[in-house]
Amino acid sequence: MTGHINLQLGWPSPAIFPSAQVLEGASNVLSSPEKAATALVYGPDAGYAPLRESIANWLSSIYSRDHAITPDRVCITNGASGNLDNILARFTEPGYTRNIWMIEPSYFLACPIFLDNGFEGRLRGVPEDDEGLDTQFLRNALEESERNATQQVPLVKKAPRYEKLYKHIIYAVPTFSNPSGKTMSLRRRHELIRLAREFDALVVTDDVYDVLRWPQEEDADISRLGDVPPRIVDADRFLDGGPKDKWGNAMSNGSFSKIIAPGIRVGWAEATPALSLALSTVGATRSGGCPTQISASFVHEMLDSGSLQKYLNETVIPTFRKRFYGMMKAIDQRLVPLGFEVSVGKPYERAPPPTNGLTNGHSNGDQSIPPEAGGYFTYLTLPMDQSGKGAELAAQALKDFDLKFAFGDMFKVHGDDSCAERAAKGFGKGIRLSWAWHTTDEIIEGIERLAQLIERERKRGV
Ligand SMILES: Cc1ncc(COP(=O)(O)O)c(C=O)c1O
Repeated sequence: MTGHINLQLGWPSPAIFPSAQVLEGASNVLSSPEKAATALVYGPDAGYAPLRESIANWLSSIYSRDHAITPDRVCITNGASGNLDNILARFTEPGYTRNIWMIEPSYFLACPIFLDNGFEGRLRGVPEDDEGLDTQFLRNALEESERNATQQVPLVKKAPRYEKLYKHIIYAVPTFSNPSGKTMSLRRRHELIRLAREFDALVVTDDVYDVLRWPQEEDADISRLGDVPPRIVDADRFLDGGPKDKWGNAMSNGSFSKIIAPGIRVGWAEATPALSLALSTVGATRSGGCPTQISASFVHEMLDSGSLQKYLNETVIPTFRKRFYGMMKAIDQRLVPLGFEVSVGKPYERAPPPTNGLTNGHSNGDQSIPPEAGGYFTYLTLPMDQSGKGAELAAQALKDFDLKFAFGDMFKVHGDDSCAERAAKGFGKGIRLSWAWHTTDEIIEGIERLAQLIERERKRGV
């Protein structure tokens, strides 16, 4: 097989795009004068109302069957990236907001969004271990940050519209993380929300891969999977009696980019009603309306008719599942014997639920629940003799094998020297591979090329 193989790309492959379902949604809207009139005007600040409702119902069925998520908790966004920008514009002021804490290895494309909002020099990495974000490290770092803080009041954003500014932003991808592939345990999720409450932090989570899940073992029954791990925003909703105040300390950043197609540019934010309302009134939205009105109306049709869920169950999940097993087998056969290790942490650890409402199957009780895999990515540690050579190997792979993959140093937190030091000892020795873009055969070919690269390097004695 020849041709370029890109195992770096975290994009869903066009072959599985739900064009027919989008077309059906579009035609339902545009052939109805009433729907078209709503979809083609400026959108309301919080977004297309029917979609807010259908998302709230869909999220309730996934995360909170016992306590329905109400539409006033949800506002429509133009994706997780655009919404991160809005969150910073509305709820932070660099200086008063001391730091942005990013789980490391980090989703590196988030860094420029923080920089554009004035946070150069204020980004800090927080290491991830096998259970997710290291909350003890974060506690120590938050304490130090508070000791060194010089600005106790906002200097610029003093108008009533900035009724709430947070002192810290914590950014993470708790489930099937990009890039590490790790899923944070329930215990850590709870510790994180308690820390956020203590230090006046807003935890912003990109919950964009949560629903793409299947058993780790090929022969396990997918219907036996446990419930989706609760998001940090679910923990804030219920833990220790619920949010500390009307704003809360968590915001879930959801997106249809990974489950419909990135070009659809529709996402949602979920938080307390007060936070969602304030978020939806950023200046650009007040002027231009919700930034994704017509696409939102198409997505609503897909959610409401069930065609989106059917497409997820019948196309996206089976496709990615099959590719995942193909990739894992190839890694086992070709890369593990060369000294690579798969390092995506422990499978999600459920713990006994607290006594206050998190009853959505979040307990460890049933031992027959198979360990799960999912999302878009796996993370491999390079063989010992190749560690520290990630960037070099990636360049060689591209030049001589027409193969692309992402290497550990790409995932450093911008401007944080201690993160760079930790990278050199840890995640910097790894590479990230995605199964989202290529077919199983192409993925297997990509792994083969990677194995040949390592064999060649060894022969050359480098
Ligand atoms: C963790 C994470 N957040 C955000 C995004 C981008 O989301 P959106 O397309 O909704 O802007 C991605 C895409 O790769 C991602 O992996």
